[in-house]
Amino acid sequence: MTATATAAEGRIVAADQELDTPCVVIDEAILHENIAEMAAFAASVGVALRPHMKTHKTPQVARLQLAAGAVGATCAKVGEAEALVEEGGVEDVLLAYPVVGEPKIRRLLGLMERARVIVALDSREAGEALARAMAAAERTLEVYVEVNTGQDRAGARHGAEATALALELARFPSLRVVGVMTHEGHASISQPEALEAAALEAGRALVETAAAIRSEGVEIAHVSVGSTPCSRYTPTVSGVTEMRPGTYVFNDNAAFRHGHLGPERCAARIATTVVSRPAPDRAVIDAGSKALAMDGSPSHAGHGYLVGHPAATIARLSEEHGVVVLPPDEPGFAVGDRHEVIPNHVCPTINLTDELLVVRDGRMVDAWRVAARGKVR
Ligand SMILES: Cc1ncc(COP(=O)(O)O)c(C=O)c1O
Repeated sequence: MTATATAAEGRIVAADQELDTPCVVIDEAILHENIAEMAAFAASVGVALRPHMKTHKTPQVARLQLAAGAVGATCAKVGEAEALVEEGGVEDVLLAYPVVGEPKIRRLLGLMERARVIVALDSREAGEALARAMAAAERTLEVYVEVNTGQDRAGARHGAEATALALELARFPSLRVVGVMTHEGHASISQPEALEAAALEAGRALVETAAAIRSEGVEIAHVSVGSTPCSRYTPTVSGVTEMRPGTYVFNDNAAFRHGHLGPERCAARIATTVVSRPAPDRAVIDAGSKALAMDGSPSHAGHGYLVGHPAATIARLSEEHGVVVLPPDEPGFAVGDRHEVIPNHVCPTINLTDELLVVRDGRMVDAWRVAARGKVR
């Protein structure tokens, strides 16, 4: 338990700290601990840390990660990167998402004036359009080939398919294929006991793919993996050079399932107030789907974990109402009582709020603007 836990059950905001809810509160000490621990781990296994910043979208958090030794940022969208380059001190960014369409390519060229940019690609079509635009602008674009190591989302299948794509992309003079990347997200939705093996298998598949591409004469300097639940495993595979965890800065309910950590390592909470108690077994909190994202959690029933109340379930959400189903005699759910909710999936939750309220020793000390909030283009 960190020093800032102000109540036995692990809340981060002191009971007498006034707050207008719902709002997102961030425990500064837990945030610093999470950032420092991942940076130390990356250094201990000799891989570069390039955190995925879609989790926080916030310049101040980016600066903390960079100060702790991150080599740069991972972003999904050009808009996220624009905001974090502009305000977060980011000078080196991997867009781990295909850049498709002329308007985006124009913005990418603008971003390249202000930062080093690498783009992950998984198709010849996207590569060709980028190559044409880069050639016209007399620029060269660094590219990672996105490799599917089992998630079956985007990515060329590891092995022959990804190797063939890398060779095709490498033929464009204005593209420079410098790396391969995978998001081994499928490992974290396998059973917790299967996670390590699945993560290691994904890492090995990526390293083997990099070797196959190199054997065809394309120099692959970067072998990049990324997933918080897998972060203890995949980067240890020999040949992996870079890791891109995102969620670790705050952590969320998904972490519980994998048994690594508990609420005391979850830095981001939705502070919420009980606004109605219409029945003994039902309370309503002021955090609905506009404050808590809709993602489910494999570790906890309902729409988030009410800190200190493991048997209470946020069973239903409408836009501004969270309906909490209570066991008999559960204390703390009178109208006006305040609670903290650990979101099931913190990344989309942060995208719903304008600012993060920073808490030190139970007291609000700062407010950080979520500058890249809503930047989904
Ligand atoms: C391409 C990519 N890299 C890295 C990550 C970070 O994973 P996590 O959210 O588990 O930290 C994600 C998450 O969605 C991702 O899509």
